[in-house]
Amino acid sequence: MTTLYLFGSAAPPVLEIAGVIEEAQARGWDVCLGLTPSAARWLEADLPALEELTGRPVRWEYKRPGEPDVWPPADVILFAPATFNTINHWALGLTDRFVVGVVAEAIGKEIPTVAMPCVNAAYAQHPQFHWSVDALRSMGLTILYGEDGFVPNQPGEKRPYPWHLALAAVEAAVSPRP
Ligand SMILES: Cc1cc2nc3c(=O)[nH]c(=O)nc-3n(C[C@H](O)[C@H](O)[C@H](O)COP(=O)(O)O)c2cc1C
Repeated sequence: MTTLYLFGSAAPPVLEIAGVIEEAQARGWDVCLGLTPSAARWLEADLPALEELTGRPVRWEYKRPGEPDVWPPADVILFAPATFNTINHWALGLTDRFVVGVVAEAIGKEIPTVAMPCVNAAYAQHPQFHWSVDALRSMGLTILYGEDGFVPNQPGEKRPYPWHLALAAVEAAVSPRP
């Protein structure tokens, strides 16, 4: 069975994560849910139900030294939604958040990793964001941003988050090449 680490940071689509887990499970994937601390606060009331849904602890903090791993190893990772903050931390190698630490290591471990940002058009004008996206792509990661991915919305504008593109990219990442 394919183990998917599904990670989310604190942007509104993370509130839809239960439905995304169900869609991933329908594809036969074993889902382990990781969150940034901010996203875990947003989902605080739902965490018990999300643990029941995945059958695994939801994680947002590093374990302490000596504590066992509670998840099986990942076959593939999807980081969505990925905030401006998370994308920049990841590209710069700033790993004070558990989930960012995992995806930073995933580069060296050669675990296929897909990310879909969620940033508004104002954040998108900050030059660091583009440097970060370019840097992550140069590391071999699939960043679904721009054409065939997430297109920034105007601040305050509500638009469906293209989860289907993220799941399709995961599917492509784990499918054997002909
Ligand atoms: C209601 C609300 C909506 C937000 N939406 C976004 C968003 O779409 N994209 C983004 O990059 N940050 C957004 N933010 C700001 C992030 O939550 C904030 O930068 C946070 O520190 C991100 O932390 P994280 O990357 O560790 O989850 C939003 C904040 C709030 C309160």
